[in-house]
Amino acid sequence: MYDSNPTIEGLSADSKTILESRQGEALFHKTVNPDGKKQFYIESYGCQMNFSDSEIVASILSEINYVPTRIMEDADLILVNTCSIREKAEDTVRKRLNLFNLLKDANPELKVGVLGCMAERMKKTLLEEEKLVDMVVGPDAYRDLPTLIGAVEEGERSINVLLSREETYADINPVRLETDGVTAFISIMRGCDNMCSFCVVPFTRGRERSRDAFSIVAEASELFEKGFREVTLLGQNVDSYKWKNPETNLTVTFANLLEMVAKVHPDLRIRFSTSHPKDITDEVLFTMAKYENICKYIHLPVQSGNSRILELMNRTYDREWYMGKIDRINEIMPDCAISSDVIAGFCSETEEEHQDTLSIMEYANYCYSYTFFYSERPGTPAAKKLKDDVPEEVKKRRLGEIQRLQNHLSLQHNLKDVGMTFKVLIEGDSRKSDKDFKGRNTQNKVLVFPKVEGYKKGDYVMVEVSEANKATLKGKIVSRA
Ligand code: SAH
Ligand code: SF4
Ligand code: F3S
Repeated sequence: MYDSNPTIEGLSADSKTILESRQGEALFHKTVNPDGKKQFYIESYGCQMNFSDSEIVASILSEINYVPTRIMEDADLILVNTCSIREKAEDTVRKRLNLFNLLKDANPELKVGVLGCMAERMKKTLLEEEKLVDMVVGPDAYRDLPTLIGAVEEGERSINVLLSREETYADINPVRLETDGVTAFISIMRGCDNMCSFCVVPFTRGRERSRDAFSIVAEASELFEKGFREVTLLGQNVDSYKWKNPETNLTVTFANLLEMVAKVHPDLRIRFSTSHPKDITDEVLFTMAKYENICKYIHLPVQSGNSRILELMNRTYDREWYMGKIDRINEIMPDCAISSDVIAGFCSETEEEHQDTLSIMEYANYCYSYTFFYSERPGTPAAKKLKDDVPEEVKKRRLGEIQRLQNHLSLQHNLKDVGMTFKVLIEGDSRKSDKDFKGRNTQNKVLVFPKVEGYKKGDYVMVEVSEANKATLKGKIVSRA
């Protein structure tokens, strides 16, 4: 979910040759849009919020007659929606920007813009000192894109990295870019007020603000009408969603919002991400339990299993409190799957403290974990106050232990499902074979099963599981759901 893989490879063999040989104008081939529209190519990195933002950007660009292309060399404008969460994420983007600059040598008309969190963090450095791009646009400034692009088309360089306290892009109808036609993301809030000491997000995304609840429900309804069957409500901390209806003065909480979206249609599945353990309430858990179409899956990042480290991280809960939350979830929804984010080797972490992380993972019995070793980010509270003193090889060894344990937990979790039958939403063909469908059950587990005549993507089916590995369940359709 957070890994920095480009959405689209997008580079043809010809362009690869050009870039490798660096002498290829003769080989360079740009196809002009038949309607005379300008074309943009966008790559997104980082979290789902960024992917969702790229769809807002596509919508804003459509107003100035830009259409998306998946072929990089056809583009008049290349946009990179960037992530700053770890150093590696920024390194990946830098490599891509260097490559786009080579493409510019072959097509001097081409413009390159950087969007998102790295734009916000680096501000004019990318434009002025490094001269890597023509345009720098922060996550709250996308409405300004038509003006900024206008300036760039005139040969200027442009920048807007202002953060906002209000912007939620509530009225913008996203253009679904990489869609399967079945599942979609809906951003319900922006920014983060939490200040976890390791994290750059509060600096790149600004203050937390919640989007108009009715615009969220309208977007979900519209998606359902178009044939979508699952929406994921997105925010850095969805459980602190709070929107005050200006007409009634009543406040809509996250539990209220879940209920409103659940009522759009019983066949529309609802997922959400991410939950901060301190904010997920019983009311949210009871609402999840009440509606079959709210998926029984919670991503509840622990970060560390040790109370001293959690305090240094400013996570505002300790080990026991987190364990209590896991107990509460299990009490209210015994069938709920839980996943996590884990950081190895945070400042001053000892071997015993690392062991606490391993033991809490077992306690929580995570079905999956996103695991990282600590990467110091400039300007964060941890970078200012704490020493990044765990040696890299120790961080990596601890990360390896965390990953090995998670692989074991994931496999055990999945083996328990063998012999059981689950309601699955068909999302499309499996990655390996067009003879198989893939889909997910309510616990967010991926199931692969042979296609059967009469069933198509977007259908709900009952699938009996016969095999499992750590990543996938395999089975067969037993009936329509
Ligand atoms: N808002 C979400 C997380 C967003 S960032 C939450 O609070 O859970 C996604 C994950 O990246 C974090 O949960 C954390 O595990 C990881 N992360 C963030 N900053 C990091 C850093 N400096 N080094 C390593 N991992 C980091
Ligand atoms: Fe970062 Fe913490 Fe906010 Fe998540 S809750 S985005 S980890 S500051
Ligand atoms: Fe990365 Fe920004 Fe998301 S830093 S994880 S793209 S909020």
